[in-house]
Amino acid sequence: MVINFQEFTTSLDTTSDSELCVVNSYNEWDTLQEVIVGRVEGAAIPQFEANIKVDAPPKYWNFFQQYGGQPFPQELVEAASKELEQFCNILEAEGVTVRRPDTVDFSNIYKTPDFEASGLYAAMPRDILIVVGNEIIEAPMAWRSRFFEYRAYRSLMKEYLQRGAKWTTAPKPLMSDELYDFDFAAKSPQEQEALVEQGRYVTTEFEPCFDAADIVRCGRDLFVQRSHVTNRIGITWLRQHLGDMYRVHEIKFQDLNPMHIDASLVPLKPGLALINPARPPVKTDLFEKAGWDLVEAALPTTPDYWKLPIASKWISMNLLSLDTERVIVERQEEPTQRLLQDLGFKVIPVDFRNFYTFGGSFHCATCDVRRDGQLEEYGFSHPLDVDEH
Ligand code: ALA
Repeated sequence: MVINFQEFTTSLDTTSDSELCVVNSYNEWDTLQEVIVGRVEGAAIPQFEANIKVDAPPKYWNFFQQYGGQPFPQELVEAASKELEQFCNILEAEGVTVRRPDTVDFSNIYKTPDFEASGLYAAMPRDILIVVGNEIIEAPMAWRSRFFEYRAYRSLMKEYLQRGAKWTTAPKPLMSDELYDFDFAAKSPQEQEALVEQGRYVTTEFEPCFDAADIVRCGRDLFVQRSHVTNRIGITWLRQHLGDMYRVHEIKFQDLNPMHIDASLVPLKPGLALINPARPPVKTDLFEKAGWDLVEAALPTTPDYWKLPIASKWISMNLLSLDTERVIVERQEEPTQRLLQDLGFKVIPVDFRNFYTFGGSFHCATCDVRRDGQLEEYGFSHPLDVDEH
């Protein structure tokens, strides 16, 4: 299908490029100008908590029980760090300004009135930060190991604030026991899947929580999934915070272990998104009515779990768009590269296998701070018909 962007693209803003705030991004595909790339230095293996029990298969539980709280092995950090450096160099060569979080030692133990834990990393800015327009929001993430992750980004946040951005931190969850369904976590993966089918997750509705990576942006329309780390009251906070200029659609996938939307639904440009054939959206009518094509992602090249099992093999589709023509794809994900080439993209292959071990790929590892576009509509402006279960 040939898409005529003009048909369903409506500008809602008259800001010219020269007036763009340092923080300015409304979607996943306008030309990328500035990006935060995570780092693995200081990364620690997360302690075994309710969420890990849900995210990692049982054969890995001993590993987290034994090593949780210790720094990631140096050789893993070095290998991933080299790939990140190379990724940054490639972004800069493509004309993108690259920013990095501070180095923080995440193995320090901390205690709040509600719990005790050690940290994780600042490798995945996508999980904690989301830019909507000129606002950068720190997400109220759900893992106890991520409670203090924001500290690695505070230098950048202060700078962006002083350069004109709106900086918001969503209400910090207490992460007391009430936020977690420990009965859920104690069940077998099969029993958990059955509960997810009934709309039950490891996080309760005690207080708002969400990971920014459970949201994708298509201008005025944002898509968010209820997952193990994003609850309904968190979605309510986002919806009410963003107000009438945005529509926050809850979208559900055939995913029995949902956590992060960016290996399930990956918008590439107006009218075109990749979906995951192993966990397609339950309903697609919203996209159909909007005239969008949903193309099935190609098969990943990694085994089911890559070393440490905190991500699925489908991070093969967790790519980063530099604009509507250039996409960064992992070098060994050749089926994904071919698919994107067939769709008319210029693929920039980058080595990232060692980074996969930390639980994500290029989209996870970044937060696009500035893209050169403005607030637009991409065809979703009719009454919504989304699954709320
Ligand atoms: N957590 C998501 C996955 O691993 C990105 O598929």
